[in-house]
Amino acid sequence: MVRLGILVSGTGSILESMLDDGLPVVVVLADRPCRAVEIAERASVPAVLVDRSEWGGYGANFDRDGYTRAITDALGSHKVDLIAMAGFGTVLAQPIHDAYPMRILNTHPALLPAFPGWHAVKDALDAGVKETGCTVHYAVLAMDAGPVVAQQAVPVLAGDTEATLHERIKDVERRLYPAAIRMVMSELDKGSDADGLKEAVL
Ligand code: GRF
Repeated sequence: MVRLGILVSGTGSILESMLDDGLPVVVVLADRPCRAVEIAERASVPAVLVDRSEWGGYGANFDRDGYTRAITDALGSHKVDLIAMAGFGTVLAQPIHDAYPMRILNTHPALLPAFPGWHAVKDALDAGVKETGCTVHYAVLAMDAGPVVAQQAVPVLAGDTEATLHERIKDVERRLYPAAIRMVMSELDKGSDADGLKEAVL
């Protein structure tokens, strides 16, 4: 049975959808105090705050390598074998990708490769596109890159604000991400290698 670890920073509505779906979440790690920690605790899932402010915070003094080690160690101590980032606001360093190759998933609120980065929803609105969406993908060191597992389009409606559009996208993410994780879990159960995982798309 796959043991899933979730990385969070925010409101945790995507995490909530995973827990509602019954995914085998064994630990939730947060990089800052956030509502997602309460969501985990309410579901009686171990939640650990690995507060990046203890590793130099958000500026130039952030010890990314040390922080990455702390997250990797926490995942290891819970015997996690598949990681899902769900609104996680820290870019981790290469060693976690070496420790968990093709075992880290992310969801991004745009149709990658369009609109990578922290402001994907605003960037799509500003670009005036009629359609954006969400992408579930394997994470690699480069932000919002890596093999795609699933994508779904979401229309941009007249009068949309960043908040209304993001909420419509998150509605889709809350269904698509758990389904994509289940698909990856079944590939892992079958013993698929990296090539098999890359080919299995939802
Ligand atoms: C999602 O849109 C995700 O794609 C992005 O952050 C959001 C997380 O939402 N990276 P929540 O904190 O789970 O509500």
